[in-house]
Amino acid sequence: MNLSTPATPVADLVDLQPSRERIAADVVAGLSAVPRRLPSKYFYDARGSELFERITHQPEYYLTGVEIALMEARMADIARAVGPALHVVEYGSGSGRKTGILLAGLDDVVAYTPIEISRDALLHSVERLEARFGGVEMLPVCADFTRPVQLPAPGREARRRLAFFPGSTLGNFERDEAVGLLRAMRDTVGTDGQALIGIDLDKDPEVIEAAYNDAAGVTAEFTLNLLARLNREIGSDFDLGQFRHRARYSQERRRIETFLVSQCAQRVHVGGQAFDFVAGEAMLVETSHKYTDADFAAMAGEAGWQVAQAWNDPKDWFGLRLLRSAS
Ligand code: TRP
Repeated sequence: MNLSTPATPVADLVDLQPSRERIAADVVAGLSAVPRRLPSKYFYDARGSELFERITHQPEYYLTGVEIALMEARMADIARAVGPALHVVEYGSGSGRKTGILLAGLDDVVAYTPIEISRDALLHSVERLEARFGGVEMLPVCADFTRPVQLPAPGREARRRLAFFPGSTLGNFERDEAVGLLRAMRDTVGTDGQALIGIDLDKDPEVIEAAYNDAAGVTAEFTLNLLARLNREIGSDFDLGQFRHRARYSQERRRIETFLVSQCAQRVHVGGQAFDFVAGEAMLVETSHKYTDADFAAMAGEAGWQVAQAWNDPKDWFGLRLLRSAS
């Protein structure tokens, strides 16, 4: 590692954070759909990121702990499989715990680009990583990663690009969207590009359901924070006391479905439009798909990828998959 390379100042941030108008249009579209939904990509404002971080420390929320232990146990194998001198491109940025393991474990990382929709979360994580990985050029991009992203070019050329998409965030997309995202990821990392994806595996529904209904109620607070954020940022008037969190596992669809349920008949205003809710009406805010190996390999294949290596934790609860171009 070249420790004398100065870290890129955050002033170089590529900022494509969605506008108030864009957010309002997404919310109006969701509320106009039947059944209603809200766009989950707006969960992560500063408070949302803080609450999600607390979720990852709840005893029922096994995903983060299991994935981190898996990365720690297999990091040497992963580093060998992906090779040296990479430009690492992370889809989303969390607390940086997994990123830290990856950057520390890989051989000679050239540059690191987190693509994150929340500017607060992005700057926070880059600041921390910068202090720890002085020799890695930090090239953050604030953008919605579901749209094509032009990557900034590192000062020193990388051998290959590696997309890193942990946390089973892929599972928060509908199947066709997830395939589209994997395909876009393949374009983003280009010739010879690779991807390391975290996927939550199908398992006992009770274990899964508990993870999204923690006893301390942090997940409920996290879900409701979406309404608080929308009220503040786009001037909607959701009554936080009249919506309640509910998360159920659908075995048929192999996914957790998180809803906000209207506690009474009520009217909500967003972007100059009125939306009437009946008592008990459930608004879908998030789905978290759980995968079998066959499901995931089929999706990757449709996106032009091939599963090159697979690592699971000892209980087969969570997996990491290394993807390479099929052609
Ligand atoms: N990617 C996380 C997951 O699907 C996000 C998440 C955890 C989440 N708990 C949630 C999203 C509750 C909405 C509601 O596990």
